[in-house]
Amino acid sequence: MFSLPFTLSILFLSELASAAETFHIPLQRRAQQTHDLDYYSAAADNLRAKYNIGSAAGASTGRRRAAVENIPVINQGTTIQYGSGAVAGSINRDVVTMSNFTIQNQVFLGVDRLQSGLLDGQTSGILGLAFQTIASTGGVPFWQNLLNDDQLESPEFSFWLARSDSRGDDSAPGGVFTLGGTNSSLYSGEIEFLDMPGSRPSYWLLPLQSVTVQGERVSIATGNSALSAIDTGTTLIGGPSDDVASIWAQVPGATQAANQQGFWTFPCSTEVNVTMSFGGRSWAISSEDMNLGPVTTSGRTCAGAIFDLNMGSNIPAGSGPSWVVGATFLKNVYSVYRANPPSIGFAELSTAAGGTGTAPGSRSTAGAGSILPKAGLASALSFISIWTLL
Ligand SMILES: *[C@@H]1O[C@H](CO)[C@@H](O)[C@H](O)[C@H]1NC(C)=O
Ligand SMILES: *[C@@H]1O[C@H](CO)[C@@H](O)[C@H](O)[C@H]1NC(C)=O
Ligand SMILES: *[C@@H]1O[C@H](CO)[C@@H](O)[C@H](O)[C@H]1NC(C)=O
Repeated sequence: MFSLPFTLSILFLSELASAAETFHIPLQRRAQQTHDLDYYSAAADNLRAKYNIGSAAGASTGRRRAAVENIPVINQGTTIQYGSGAVAGSINRDVVTMSNFTIQNQVFLGVDRLQSGLLDGQTSGILGLAFQTIASTGGVPFWQNLLNDDQLESPEFSFWLARSDSRGDDSAPGGVFTLGGTNSSLYSGEIEFLDMPGSRPSYWLLPLQSVTVQGERVSIATGNSALSAIDTGTTLIGGPSDDVASIWAQVPGATQAANQQGFWTFPCSTEVNVTMSFGGRSWAISSEDMNLGPVTTSGRTCAGAIFDLNMGSNIPAGSGPSWVVGATFLKNVYSVYRANPPSIGFAELSTAAGGTGTAPGSRSTAGAGSILPKAGLASALSFISIWTLL
């Protein structure tokens, strides 16, 4: 284990960054930890809260519930809900520097209270990568400030999220985050950019247009119900109840997990092949990413990586994304987040980056992964690995 903490360096610097840079940051997974099922139930609830989806209170009926206590805010401050919990603190402004990039007057939350388990001693900060419209602090996010200040070579950032290898080797590369461009050694062919809907970017959003399971097209809701947040900070894929049920209905032997509402299980011997399209080409999710590992002592029943995000409650139309598409999908593509025009691009992974989503090695022991900005732990049922910045 050689994980180093990602540190949001807050330095008092007098020199300004030189203009128009691209910065490639190797990512490293956090050490793997085992967690019980209640832990993941709680994490799923946190993700629902983060996206204001459904009723997390209603979600607690019918299963054992882990402690998801809210942090009492003693001092006047902001609480921010992440997939893995909540933090609170006061809003500050200071000089923030990352590599050659510097923002003189960056708004950020100085966290003085956090839900237990949110950070693990290896992480000292979380850096938001969505748009100002949804920033809890109200401030312009660091990346957007860099963009406005013309410090980025291209108005975009990109991710390769590596699958953990069969040995769960924490020192293996966890991926690469590139700020201000792409890293052409990590993808092959063209990057297919899809315009984001709406005129005021908030989350990184695309409409989910088609899903296949075991080669068969599954009928899914359209319009606002198909709006999907493409979220590098979330581990799994969450979607509306009916659509998620339709997906698992295509998998022989799949049933709803008895004690883990919102999750589905299936015979471990079954390969679950899912593809997703957001309006352009269809991208295959490796069956190893769909399988979170055994959830029974016999080892014959495994949990699936697509879960019911709203657990039967109705998501009010227009209230935000209905799907949250995390690393389960994103490990299978090279993804590019372009601010201008607001669009998201996907490309095939290069061989160097693990090929086409059928990387060798056993089923992922982790399932998992999240990066910046939010440690999305709504996650793998037996292990979790989180990417953090070196
Ligand atoms: C692109 O990613 C590769 C693989 O991680 C890395 O070795 C290389 O340094 C990166 N490119 C740049 C310009 O940093
Ligand atoms: C930082 O800027 C210097 C000078 O322009 C340049 O040589 C160096 O490559 C830059 N570093 C990164 C990580 O972009
Ligand atoms: C899943 O996809 C793999 C690779 O394409 C294929 O070999 C396998 O037969 C598929 N399984 C099912 C159940 O569709």
